[in-house]
Amino acid sequence: MNIAVVGSGYVGLVTGVCLAHIGHDVICVDIDEAKIKTLKQAKVPIYEPGLEDLLKKYLKNKRLRFTTSIKEATKESTAIFIAVGTPSKKNGEADLTYVENVAREIAVTMDSYKLIIEKSTVPADTGRRIERTIRLNLKNKIKQEKKGDREFDVASNPEFLREGSAVHDFMNPDRVVIGVESKKAEKILREIYKPLKPKMVVTNIKSAELIKHASNSFLATKISFINAIAQICDHIGGDVLKVAEGMGYDKRIGRAFLNAGVGYGGSCFPKDVDAFIRLSEKSGYNFRLLKEVRNVNEEQKSSFIRLIEDKLWIVKNKVIGVLGLAFKADTDDMRNAPSIDIIQALQAEGAKIRAYDPQAVNNAKKVLEDIIYCKDPYELAKDCDCLLILTEWDEFKDIDFTKIKKSMKQDIIFDGRNLYSDNRLGDIGFEYHGIGRGQV
Ligand code: UGA
Repeated sequence: MNIAVVGSGYVGLVTGVCLAHIGHDVICVDIDEAKIKTLKQAKVPIYEPGLEDLLKKYLKNKRLRFTTSIKEATKESTAIFIAVGTPSKKNGEADLTYVENVAREIAVTMDSYKLIIEKSTVPADTGRRIERTIRLNLKNKIKQEKKGDREFDVASNPEFLREGSAVHDFMNPDRVVIGVESKKAEKILREIYKPLKPKMVVTNIKSAELIKHASNSFLATKISFINAIAQICDHIGGDVLKVAEGMGYDKRIGRAFLNAGVGYGGSCFPKDVDAFIRLSEKSGYNFRLLKEVRNVNEEQKSSFIRLIEDKLWIVKNKVIGVLGLAFKADTDDMRNAPSIDIIQALQAEGAKIRAYDPQAVNNAKKVLEDIIYCKDPYELAKDCDCLLILTEWDEFKDIDFTKIKKSMKQDIIFDGRNLYSDNRLGDIGFEYHGIGRGQV
């Protein structure tokens, strides 16, 4: 099928490349000329395992193309995915300016039936607004195959891709959710995803939009729940890892997303939780539960900072080495990374920060100041008063801490991801502090 994907950010790019991979002819659009130029040279501007190889392959066989023109993409496609950014406004609401612009541009160009699919995470109600915008801006007469055919359809098809494993998630979906208002729209979306043989959830547009909100908010709730348990563990001497294990074997609960840590970050959970709280408020429901999920997440960072202050005693002029800056492993993304708040709070008290991250340094430089970036964990450790583990990179598991210990000034480790949950750091003489391991 000829498909257009508008917006070549994280979601759009992964979607476009993967749709080509499952056999479609895809044209990806972005207004950023520099980005399109980079993509045409088969270079991926983000770090996402597996994406660049697929991009190269399908650019070469021409199943995948890039353009800055929505008009060109609209003319050539039957299905058009909208995957542009929906940043947060100051009040937490999603800013849908880009979505509206795209809907208008599609409307003025289209002269045959199109299925317009919202892929960006948007508030429930956006589908209806896209439909209205298109209708108000239609400039051409749509040639109908049969009398009574709809001129266009709008559908919702939320994504559930995780950064760092987005290609794998696209190719192996737990489910594909489609929100449609016509049989034709359903048929087209079923055909698009047929090669993946997924479990399909077919519903109306509003319910599909709500499934996305509810899924991300529920996962954020799971994380805040286990972080709250971690606080209790620290106070009464339990071990959150064992609690999570014991809970996780219950099939009704499951072990996933029960990793206590320094709180969730990234471009999705913080923004989506805010947006869902706002959406609920506007609809007349006070989503107190979700507000508390957000509070627990903020407190998780503050209590980690308080622990460091307590153990270091005087923070001023202490040298703190930070292992991991990205909001999670396998990404270079720094958006809402817990490392930002933690580092800035310690800098405000006069700490000197050294840092190492395998991928996120370039992005970290845009948001953090006065940091000495090191080429590896061993260079980082030199003269440090303590180390913080803020991202659970796999490569950190193989660090030789006996070597690290020799170059540090004081041997304290604050493991914000419970990466070294066995006793090995304690055994080689470190003062080790995890999250919810019952030591406070
Ligand atoms: C999340 C969802 O998992 C995807 O399903 C969704 O499609 C995506 O948002 C989106 O809306 O676009 P992502 O933000 O890439 O994906 O990252 P996650 O793996 O979900 O992690 C989010 C944050 O929660 C990270 O900071 C991570 O470190 C933290 N986390 C996750 C925990 O603190 N504990 C856990 O047990 C799991």
